[in-house]
Amino acid sequence: MKTEKNTAEDNLMEKIVSLCKRRGFIFSGSEIYGGLAGTYDWGHFGVALKNNIKQYWWKKFVDNRRDMYGVDAAILMNARVWEATGHVANFADPLDGKQFNTMLKTQVGAKKEEVAVSYLRPETAQGMFVNFKNTVDAFHPKLPFGMAQIGKAFRNEIAPRDFLFRQREFEQMEIEYFVRQEDWEKYFEYWRGETLSFMEEIGIDMSKVHEMEIGDSDRAHYSNRTIDFEFEYPFGQKELSGLAYRTDFDLKKHKLDYIDEEKNEKMIPHVIEPSFGIDRMVLVVLLSAYCEGLEGKEEVSDGAGEKESRVYLKFKPNIAPVICAVSPLLKNKPELVEYANTKVFAPLKAEFGRVMWDDNGNIGKRYRRQDEIGTPFCIVVDFDTLTDDTVTVRARDTGEQERIKVENLKDYIKEKIQ
Ligand code: GAP
Repeated sequence: MKTEKNTAEDNLMEKIVSLCKRRGFIFSGSEIYGGLAGTYDWGHFGVALKNNIKQYWWKKFVDNRRDMYGVDAAILMNARVWEATGHVANFADPLDGKQFNTMLKTQVGAKKEEVAVSYLRPETAQGMFVNFKNTVDAFHPKLPFGMAQIGKAFRNEIAPRDFLFRQREFEQMEIEYFVRQEDWEKYFEYWRGETLSFMEEIGIDMSKVHEMEIGDSDRAHYSNRTIDFEFEYPFGQKELSGLAYRTDFDLKKHKLDYIDEEKNEKMIPHVIEPSFGIDRMVLVVLLSAYCEGLEGKEEVSDGAGEKESRVYLKFKPNIAPVICAVSPLLKNKPELVEYANTKVFAPLKAEFGRVMWDDNGNIGKRYRRQDEIGTPFCIVVDFDTLTDDTVTVRARDTGEQERIKVENLKDYIKEKIQ
């Protein structure tokens, strides 16, 4: 029997899936041909949201550090990689009493004698391990140091489900952090903290995040310790991202080692791996941001004196697909349109990129639309603007409006997206 809470939560997923389609965030894959289970296509605002999360991650974990090396490896890898790591033997889920290997198999090469079995990588991690030697030879990093990669991964999941949660094609952001064996606990703890701070910084509701220690029998074959960061999704508490101590398993399997110059000895570094699934991050950011009503009130004025309930996504400005929308109060007044376009929209667009021109419908309708996209600020050019060079800036979450000097707009927004 469904409880009231259950139904409300089911509705929440339905509402989010429908908002994502209606507002151009995320569509079912191959929809006009009946779809393809476990695939999704990203529309304009979805790509923007996803890119902002990826860029934020890269900035935090690569650009802002001195000990991290980026990689963008091929998705197709020599099958021997997956034989060496045990994925061919072990990367399987139970199906009808047998183990079903969930790696997506394909073939590479045209002529019969050249055709080789290959796999679409089930994790981005191996793209980094196989480039360990290249990275060490090119950059001579000292321990501890890390490699980072963002990219697609594929799994032939037996039962893809729950929107972005379990797909057959998805994206990961992974770090392999190489340490001396005796330091693994220290760095495991360190990356636990970094994982949590990243989640908080992109606006995830941390009251719904729980850490789960994974027991011996449930851990992946390469891990000596794993924590799953779980989230309370409407369909249950499940994994959002993982943190594993992969020991020296992978480097050993690939027969790779490292000369520790400090100790003047050959050794195999151990690995701490924080692994983030982007699609689940996006889903959880959407679930955390979804709000109905205004400060507890179900209704707000639409600007024309009518009251209607509203839905808004309270994205943090650093990841919002659109940072601000610019509108002339009336679209049939050329002097307002001209001012809004040349003095407000164009300079903001040049500065921030994610700025939207919105002159469709009345102001109330525009606010509702921008609320659903999660735009933190709506800027309106009205008749006063023409005489005093100020505009109305309306804040998404509170509905509050302030008058800001046009010349101060860039700084005003810059401050908010820090
Ligand atoms: N390299 C380690 C690794 O791949 P994993 O726990 O199997 O570990 C890491 O995957 C993350 O990738 C998960 O925490 C999840 O966010 C994401 N992920 C895994 N399978 C997924 C799927 N079928 N659909 C969407 N995301 C998935």
